[in-house]
Amino acid sequence: MRILTLDDFDTKGKTVFLRVDMNCPIDPANMKIIETSRIKESTDSLKDLEGAKVVIMSHQGRVGNKDYTSMENHAKVLEQILGRKIKYVEDVIGSDAQNEIKNMKDGDIILLDNVRLCAEENYEFSASDASKTIMVTRLSKLFDLCVLDSFPSSHRAHPSIIGFAHVLPACAGRLVEREVRKLDEIMTVAKGPHVVVLGGSKVIDRLEAIKELIQNGRADQVMLTGVIANVFLRAQGRIKFPLGIKREEEVVQKAHSLIGEYPDVFSVPVDIAVERNGKRVEMDVRELVKGDSVYDLGPKTVEYYLKSIQGAGTVFMSGPAGFFENENFKFGTEELLKGVANSFATTIVSGGHLTAALKRYGLAEKINHISTAGGALVLYLTGTKLPMIQALEEAAGRYGTK
Ligand code: 3PG
Repeated sequence: MRILTLDDFDTKGKTVFLRVDMNCPIDPANMKIIETSRIKESTDSLKDLEGAKVVIMSHQGRVGNKDYTSMENHAKVLEQILGRKIKYVEDVIGSDAQNEIKNMKDGDIILLDNVRLCAEENYEFSASDASKTIMVTRLSKLFDLCVLDSFPSSHRAHPSIIGFAHVLPACAGRLVEREVRKLDEIMTVAKGPHVVVLGGSKVIDRLEAIKELIQNGRADQVMLTGVIANVFLRAQGRIKFPLGIKREEEVVQKAHSLIGEYPDVFSVPVDIAVERNGKRVEMDVRELVKGDSVYDLGPKTVEYYLKSIQGAGTVFMSGPAGFFENENFKFGTEELLKGVANSFATTIVSGGHLTAALKRYGLAEKINHISTAGGALVLYLTGTKLPMIQALEEAAGRYGTK
């Protein structure tokens, strides 16, 4: 690995900037955190930074989205999991945050508020420009070391992800170190056929990465689930009404081009399950009507997808196949995960929802690698150099091993 890790630095007594990704699923009804695995994954670096003053930064959701909220609850959850005091600071780059950092003692940990409260964090920059943002110029002078541990957001060229590493000694945290090592190991031994089971709500991100996956030989077959499956069904004309998603015409057009370019790669559901009067109703996709909420795959689709999984050399599954938190709609997600877990393939499962589902069904031990990342992982598998990894490599080149 051409990046430095916490083993390369003596952090005792140092003030350390730690960028983690505690972006968790949030219940929009009460803004509570539904699933905490990303918070738990952030604790390994904290354990190794015990004698330092640690300033943690993370985002939660996106401005304008339903899961966009402060980090106050995250601080409470982190405190419980770690068993150490976490001081939540209701500020990111202002004088309150700066004074709190200046007054820290060895062993203190503070969690700043949602970094996306700063306008700058919602834009992409070059590393050099990111290092000149107000966020980085104000805060970097308070830190001795930058530790980057937010693997799920390593594909975002945001100031907190790439800017501090440009001006401070920087290394990977334990999560990034583990993910990169494990994924690199898997990618060197991964055999075909490569089957990708792809869902998740960030359709634009997924569509952009999917072509790269196919072109790089990492996706011989792509079995679609969730919203992205509906987009492809619309592109094929099997769903005839608008889905009501962001930039819909653009994504449907992209899906249409992908099907045209790779006609034998994509599989879409033939049957699905919707909710009517609180009950599960299964039907052929052509029977769907406007206003139906598709909550799961149907049995024919699951059977068909499982056949491909059984014949795969490598399986990568990202995003649940339905609303598995509801007993009526867990069928597709549970059956596909069982198929992945019991296959002879090398297996990678990604994202917070699927991690929770694997644990719920007692299957986690049977998966070769469970990644915290969604979109970042898809891009990593395409071989794309992610901005955070690039920043870590450049920092390693600049500072060398301490
Ligand atoms: C994720 O959940 O994929 C990461 O936290 C990145 O979030 P973003 O897609 O809102 O940048």
